[in-house]
Amino acid sequence: MSPEKTFYLETFGCQMNAHDSEKVIGTLQREGYRRVESEEEAGLILYNTCSIRDKAEQKVFNRLNDYKKLYKSGKRFGVLGCVAQQEGEKIFERAPYVSLVSGSASYRKLPEMLHRLEAGENRITGLDDRQTDETFETEFTARQNPYRGYITIIEGCDKFCAYCVVPYTRGKERSRTSASVLEEARRIADLGYSEIQLLGQNVNSYRDPEGKLSFAELLAAVGQVPGIRRVRFTTSHPRDFTKDIVEVIDAYPTLCDHIHLPVQSGSSRILKAMAREYTSDWYLERISWMKAAKRKISLSTDIIVGFPGETPDDFIQTMDLLAEVQYDCVFGFKYSPRPNTPALVMIDSIPEAEKSQRLQVLLERQREIQRANYSNHLGEVMEVMVEGQNTARGQVTGRSSQNKSVNFTTGSPIAPAPGTYMQVRITATHPNSLVGEAL
Ligand code: SAH
Ligand code: SF4
Ligand code: F3S
Repeated sequence: MSPEKTFYLETFGCQMNAHDSEKVIGTLQREGYRRVESEEEAGLILYNTCSIRDKAEQKVFNRLNDYKKLYKSGKRFGVLGCVAQQEGEKIFERAPYVSLVSGSASYRKLPEMLHRLEAGENRITGLDDRQTDETFETEFTARQNPYRGYITIIEGCDKFCAYCVVPYTRGKERSRTSASVLEEARRIADLGYSEIQLLGQNVNSYRDPEGKLSFAELLAAVGQVPGIRRVRFTTSHPRDFTKDIVEVIDAYPTLCDHIHLPVQSGSSRILKAMAREYTSDWYLERISWMKAAKRKISLSTDIIVGFPGETPDDFIQTMDLLAEVQYDCVFGFKYSPRPNTPALVMIDSIPEAEKSQRLQVLLERQREIQRANYSNHLGEVMEVMVEGQNTARGQVTGRSSQNKSVNFTTGSPIAPAPGTYMQVRITATHPNSLVGEAL
């Protein structure tokens, strides 16, 4: 009998990566591998990596370094994901004990790559040249989240924002057919999932290869799958954001009242330098559609501070935009120069301390905005989907349709199962979460 095949997989980065890992795990299990919880137990150690900012990339190389001693005991290492695609064969020079390097656009070839690995081959690569039209679809997805089912609808990115690695790490934009997305939605609803999150670097750039449904129509169709109570989607791009998306949210209550629309900067001059292809007025027009919706839509965004050439005045424009939109959540980042990107040649003249200062000012202001926004929920009764419990505090944790985190008591010693929906009255509010009691 051959020895048992085991693997350890750790995931870094965004939800696209988290969901890719679910598909990779399913593929490995299909190939006869068993997942184990630690590097020490595993025959094959895989890292699904992120390279969005320098810190994320460094984390991966630190991890590889920490565990390289295990190589001597015959273990094999594989690097997957965005750092793999970005660095390619250079990884073998930097970490010679790595045997497999594969970007996400090559995961279809994983079974074949695994067979070569098992045959003792080293330096196996799956690297993409931005040519492929294929998406990675598998029926063997090993869903790790017990209540939220992820479905990729579009892979890659063609936007080439000046600061961003994604178009180089995830290949060109390619959508799945709406028929296959809907088939997967029905399949996971049958498995008992009631929440679906549609994924893509730019979900609203979705183009049905069979030309059947637009993105808004696809949203509406997923929202009508029997058993589905919540549909989310990330991330939208302002350039491709159309009014019919707000209209379908209004029309179908299963589509969650939350939109994440990254703005990056409030200064049109900086947006131009970033190659975002919209102005702050264009962005705010889309926000005004959302604010005119019948249901109050919760808004969130991503912001980069300290992009090359960002003056104090540009930064003030970002702060003004924050005050105007009144987001419920902001992910703020300091600009990080990335390999291969056009912004790399721009002079990154803003000192690190100044970037940190701007980020701090931004996040402090946002905290005050959220404190006010969240306090508006006091006394409200809302539907919360249970995600888990905080035993130390005797609270159940969950999320509202707006994706706000709610911690509540039930008055019962038996915790409700994850995925259960409960009506909760809000009794206290914080800038990042709500507190309540189940009715
Ligand atoms: N496709 C999405 C998000 C991609 S990455 C979009 O276009 O909005 C998530 C976020 O990381 C981005 O929105 C951006 O705010 C941030 N980011 C990307 N590259 C970065 C860089 N080089 N430095 C700092 N932040 C970056
Ligand atoms: Fe990166 Fe821009 Fe593509 Fe988003 S749209 S993934 S920020 S290049
Ligand atoms: Fe990171 Fe790649 Fe996602 S760079 S944020 S894992 S697309």
